[in-house]
Amino acid sequence: MSASQLQRAADVLRRSKHLVVLTGAGMSKESGIPTFRDAFEGMWARFDPEEVATPQAFQRNPRMVWEWYEARRLQIIQAQPHAGHYALAALEAHLPQVVIVTQNIDGLHKRAGSTDVIELHGNIMQHKCFADCQGDPTLLNIAELPQDEIPPRCPHCGAYARPNVVWFNEFLPVGALERARELCLRADVILIVGTSGVVQPAASLPYLAKQYGGAFLIDINPEHNEITPMCDLFLQGTAGGILPRLAELISS
Ligand code: OAD
Repeated sequence: MSASQLQRAADVLRRSKHLVVLTGAGMSKESGIPTFRDAFEGMWARFDPEEVATPQAFQRNPRMVWEWYEARRLQIIQAQPHAGHYALAALEAHLPQVVIVTQNIDGLHKRAGSTDVIELHGNIMQHKCFADCQGDPTLLNIAELPQDEIPPRCPHCGAYARPNVVWFNEFLPVGALERARELCLRADVILIVGTSGVVQPAASLPYLAKQYGGAFLIDINPEHNEITPMCDLFLQGTAGGILPRLAELISS
């Protein structure tokens, strides 16, 4: 990435009135949380998503899936936002509208201070009833549930509790996806950070923004990915390396 590319991105962002930042697992990598599709250390190189990240897997083996997510939850509790998360939060002081649309379930954007965050794939810190018996989502406070069984049971209907994340073969939270789509249609700039752009419907948001809304697309990623070819600017590098420099240029 050249200095002039970075300056161009800063100039475009400084003029933005409606900015959407779309983030994926690469955004959290420098916080020590593995991505999914890295060839060796990615989550899906070590685990089969069909065995841990589908409602069918949970029905087959609720305890194993519950414990897999509890282990991830404990890892994420230990993780801290990095300079890139803070840089995105700092943009709110300089631009009229900054909305983060994230596929990440770790809550690090909010912990860094971003105030408008759409969590497309849920949040691993929350739990809900597997049957969503009181409406979707039926959130449960697991600290208040009897712990004599793993997973614990929903106090309303007796179904198992589960993490409030989106699994494969499930719909995204309707309100979150609707709002993300509307914002992308209105956005003048989409900043895409750390996603491989292969998982739908999140991956279609930049296309929607560009094809139907005419947005300018900026991609930050160490690697070319599915979205890179349609982007107006590709800043090759990491979230923690590039975002703080970008925020500094925007604020100066
Ligand atoms: P992936 O693991 O598919 O892609 C991570 C992307 O981050 C890759 O393009 C990497 O090149 C890039 N990357 C790696 N390190 C980076 C860094 N330090 N800074 C910036 N980028 C970096 O993750 P996602 O695209 O988020 O869904 O995956 C989308 C969804 O697939 C996830 O939300 C999850 C997964 O299966 C579900 O579990 C439903």
